[in-house]
Amino acid sequence: APDTADLRALIAPHLGREGPMLPILHAVQEAHGHVPQAAVPVIAEALNLTRAEVHGVVSFYHDFRDSPAGRHMLKICRAEACQAMGGAALSEAVLEKLGLAWGGTTPDGALTVEPVYCLGLCACAPAVMLDGRVHGRVDAARLDALLAEARA
Ligand code: FES
Repeated sequence: APDTADLRALIAPHLGREGPMLPILHAVQEAHGHVPQAAVPVIAEALNLTRAEVHGVVSFYHDFRDSPAGRHMLKICRAEACQAMGGAALSEAVLEKLGLAWGGTTPDGALTVEPVYCLGLCACAPAVMLDGRVHGRVDAARLDALLAEARA
């Protein structure tokens, strides 16, 4: 976990800017992969806000994670073309099988599932991205195979 001095160093360059909260949260998340609980009181103090206010912003923006992501990251497209081509059913099936909600991570830390809004593969819908690689025309069986291959 980050120590206070380390967090203050990430925060300092953004103080005095207008609207420093989001740049600070991005900086912390970039450095640590998520916004650790320990960062909340340090950010609150630096910005003269309550912990609840900082926590509220972290949970409101889906960009921010309050726990580390899994070793593998699956993003399933939820934009229109993919939804129309079975993307909704695909994501429901995956989330149900893994027992996760959007943004959730499997208990073994292997896989996080997040929504994404268009991967530029609309012509090959439904599309997913696994560990940064995009795949089109994905059905449940293909997705199982991709996950097995990634050992997720
Ligand atoms: Fe899914 Fe464009 S809508 S890739």
